[in-house]
Amino acid sequence: MYSIRHPKRSWFGLGTIAKIKDEAAFLGARNALFFTDKGVRGAGVADMALAPLEEAGVEVTIYDECPPEPAIADLERAFDEFKNGAFDLVVGVGGGSSMDMAKSIGALLGNDGAPRDYLGIELVPKPGVSTILAPTTSGTGAEATPNAIFSVPEEQVKLAIVSTHVIPFAAIVDPNLTLSAPPKVTSAAGVDAFTHCLETYVARNATPLSEMYSLEGMKLIARSLRRVCDDGSDIEARTDMALGSYYGGVALAGAGAGAIHALAYPLGSRFHIPHGVSNSLMFSHVMKENHAAAPEKFARIARILGESTDGMSDAEAAALSVGAVEKLCRDCGVPTRLGEVDIPAHAIPELAEAAFKLERLLSCNPKELTLEDIERIYRAAA
Ligand SMILES: [Fe+2]
Repeated sequence: MYSIRHPKRSWFGLGTIAKIKDEAAFLGARNALFFTDKGVRGAGVADMALAPLEEAGVEVTIYDECPPEPAIADLERAFDEFKNGAFDLVVGVGGGSSMDMAKSIGALLGNDGAPRDYLGIELVPKPGVSTILAPTTSGTGAEATPNAIFSVPEEQVKLAIVSTHVIPFAAIVDPNLTLSAPPKVTSAAGVDAFTHCLETYVARNATPLSEMYSLEGMKLIARSLRRVCDDGSDIEARTDMALGSYYGGVALAGAGAGAIHALAYPLGSRFHIPHGVSNSLMFSHVMKENHAAAPEKFARIARILGESTDGMSDAEAAALSVGAVEKLCRDCGVPTRLGEVDIPAHAIPELAEAAFKLERLLSCNPKELTLEDIERIYRAAA
């Protein structure tokens, strides 16, 4: 038995951002709260969604202070500001942080609790205000997931609101919105998207439904991530990345991420390393630990990444996936070792303890990892 969850409606393709007008009209929206960040607004990308909303006669309140890698206090501040507003639509246009803020506020506005009450799995009691999300990076897949991630600095962890009620009403994935993403954001986000597809594919709770998205996402990203890192104006490659990222999001909704994310999160919460870079730092090192647990799947990953595996056993082919991923990250200029971002070896025991607590992620990993395993992986990545 298995199931998968999607946004109620998804639009994909060049120019689809104009569809936000129809979606808002369909929902009967009159008064929208709009989450973005100053970079996206300054680049004129938010206007691509604001203009059609205005045409639809929707009153829009803009919040452009979504920070990168938001903390739970950022969500609490925004909620305090808007909790008494009569909003009938919440829009998020931006990277993962703006979308996570938007979908969380949408859920909060229809429920009685405070942001921290909903950190955990399926703790949001009922549907909130409808949300429409449009990504401006190809990475988190947040436009399709039931997850919103926030750091909790006092506990030095990143926690998630995970709820079916957090999945947006509509996802609008228009590759045009990603054209102005800077190179460093493009490469790190692209690695994150590939991580989602790969981790969900090998996850213990993967299903035929989630695997379909994982595999197609990996194929799209494998053929276009290097291209988009070389030339951010390559719209064909941007289009592949946007679709691959969306697929990764749907796959996350159907199967969880695993130990790459579990070991990456403490790097983000303790050392403020951007999420995609954190994944890249742990990516090949965790795969080295995992590939023997699912040789057939890792052999397929090696082939998707262009490795020739003719005449090899699955186990031999699977081992090639590790170097292929490391090369992909390196070719895109994203670091793959902790020393490259000045994370000291003495921090490793604490990092391992923080990662070991992330049961939601570790329980999906193809191999069960002990605290000692995790510490060893960090040391191998040093
Ligand atoms: Fe991620």
